[in-house]
Amino acid sequence: MEREAVLVGIDVGTSKVCVLIGEVGRDGSLTIVGKGSVPASGLKKAVVVNIDQTVRSISGAVDHSERLSGWAIDRAFVGVGGQHVESQNSRGAVAVSGHQREVTREDINRAMEVARAVSIPSNREVLHVLPRGFIVDGQEGVKDPLGMSAVRLEIETHIVTASATAVRNLAKCVQAANVKIDELVASSLASAEAVLSETERDLGVAVADIGAGTIDLALFLDGSPFKTSVLPVGGNNVTNDVAIGLKTSLQVAEDLKIQHGSCDLSTVAGDEQISVAMLGEAAGRTVSRLEVCRIIEARMRETFEMLRAEIRSAGDGILPAGLVLTGGASQLAGAAALGREILDMPVRVAGPTGIVGLTDNIMNPAYSTAIGLLFWGAKGLESGEASHFESAPAHGLPARVRDALRNLFP
Ligand SMILES: Nc1ncnc2c1ncn2[C@@H]1O[C@H](COP(=O)(O)OP(=O)(O)OP(=O)(O)O)[C@@H](O)[C@H]1O
Ligand SMILES: [Mg+2]
Repeated sequence: MEREAVLVGIDVGTSKVCVLIGEVGRDGSLTIVGKGSVPASGLKKAVVVNIDQTVRSISGAVDHSERLSGWAIDRAFVGVGGQHVESQNSRGAVAVSGHQREVTREDINRAMEVARAVSIPSNREVLHVLPRGFIVDGQEGVKDPLGMSAVRLEIETHIVTASATAVRNLAKCVQAANVKIDELVASSLASAEAVLSETERDLGVAVADIGAGTIDLALFLDGSPFKTSVLPVGGNNVTNDVAIGLKTSLQVAEDLKIQHGSCDLSTVAGDEQISVAMLGEAAGRTVSRLEVCRIIEARMRETFEMLRAEIRSAGDGILPAGLVLTGGASQLAGAAALGREILDMPVRVAGPTGIVGLTDNIMNPAYSTAIGLLFWGAKGLESGEASHFESAPAHGLPARVRDALRNLFP
């Protein structure tokens, strides 16, 4: 395979830091050539709360991936999560400038600038200004206006912002691990790249990446995101409830959840018993599996109700392709069934697809963000002049360098 670029994705999650090195082929294929995943410490609900611990976690994952691949990582696409990630939609209009009145790239950039000029508080960092569509002389639904004859060009954009301090702390940790930042990418938009089909995005779909501490959510319509947000709940809440409800350690609760848990109570027999090795108890006791699953179901029900409220607030019945669940906690048995019941829309659980190479252990919903970061980077290469790179983060963070070949040095 002829290689076009080598890209790196770093997902700094609440429970793990994952570094992936991927080769993008000229044919657009993505081959994983290096990976490192280590348990994370120093983060709370996807926000850095301890710099030293976070730097150590990132360095650990970077080291693993470098040793495995023989590459030295210079720069990476980095996911941004946490409840501080928010979005808004904004329009910008300009008069088409040239003598011929033909829309040029410059007109599009000017329209983007106008849309971007909405008042964004100084404590917010703009992560993305994504074009959603154009209105050319009143004609809506134009996807690519370049070269069209027109007098007035209007752009609709989706703007994703994040807390400037949270972003700065994350950037600081990545840089302290000796990695420069190609681009900061909202985690939900990265996960979307790994699990959504183009058809789903065109029809209208939601993706929810349920992690340990947060749910990264993005809603798509006509091929582009129109709402990006993060809910402050995740698999850890489920584990905590089990630990409290059954008076076990968190580790025992986590094992119970993963090995025996389900949120589809119709599949759990009333008389099933699980023997649990209790902390500080020599002889294991038994617990009722139904009791475990009732606790899990209650929390998951509440979680899906939160998702429902968030999705409905953006508009009712506008997502015919339904909800795609990913993230580590989406693997809970019965999650899709409960989601369908509560949200009353199609729900599927998905892991990343479309990659080759060192795929062992990463074709799993927990790695959607990390893999999606590579797809995001690859998409930027493909489109060359991709506008989302023109809106690379401001405030002194490194802007996207187009020559991705120089991302790494062997
Ligand atoms: N088989 C499984 N069944 C149920 N839950 C699981 C399973 N495997 C992992 N989990 C849960 O997934 C969560 C971790 O998911 P993930 O790795 O996506 O989180 P993260 O990216 O580190 O966190 P966040 O995105 O919130 O920052 C944990 O809460 C874990 O209990
Ligand atoms: Mg995550």
